[in-house]
Amino acid sequence: MNRRMAIKQMSGLASAVVFAASRVSRAAGFQAAAAAPASAPATAPTGPFTLPALPYAYDALADYFDAETMHLHHDKHHQAYVDKLNAAVAGHPEVAGKTVEELVANLSTVPESIRTAVRNQGGGHANHSFWWPTLGKGGAAPTGELAKAIDTRFSSFSGLQDKLSAAAIGVFGSGWAWLVISPAGTLEIETTPNQDSPLALGHKPVLGIDVWEHAYYLKYKNKRADYVKAYFSAVNWDAVSAKFADSKKAV
Ligand SMILES: [Fe+2]
Repeated sequence: MNRRMAIKQMSGLASAVVFAASRVSRAAGFQAAAAAPASAPATAPTGPFTLPALPYAYDALADYFDAETMHLHHDKHHQAYVDKLNAAVAGHPEVAGKTVEELVANLSTVPESIRTAVRNQGGGHANHSFWWPTLGKGGAAPTGELAKAIDTRFSSFSGLQDKLSAAAIGVFGSGWAWLVISPAGTLEIETTPNQDSPLALGHKPVLGIDVWEHAYYLKYKNKRADYVKAYFSAVNWDAVSAKFADSKKAV
């Protein structure tokens, strides 16, 4: 090797060392940046919406809805709707002053940038907040004005059960089946996809069957029909009948 070739080879070696050092330095810098957060994580908003407590013990309906499902459904899924709704309305004081029912009933008034979040997360919060108090121990069948209205519209309680069950079983994917009071004051059965609320249609819910798999998969696996059948034994008919009488007055 002559002197000229030796200098050229050393130069190339030096360049390679510098390039490698550069890569190490950049990699180390990247790792350091990844290890040290740029700033402290923002605290998630805890309001204005809050998770309502279950009005009974988690195992109160264990014959129909197991306690583990109730914990997951209430503490995780419903809580997540509340948390994401709070995150969506943060920085929007014009909507944060309204109830979730007012928001989902008037989605067109919600700022477009958060309308989908309010529809989905607010709908989830509103639907579940409605649902929990309709469950529990209290009566085996509708009473009073509700019983009369069901007989008028569906011939019998079993007629309602058949039609509402079929609607619930027929929901494609995740959603809800409802018994509602229409703006005309009649009882109607309808379904909504995802977490859409009957309130958005101007309807007042009387009963709702949550057919998201999170409501039944642990106990019933993929057998939605078995879960829907059990649902009718888990309804607090006394509470639902009383609520119906109140709702009917407001129509
Ligand atoms: Fe649910």
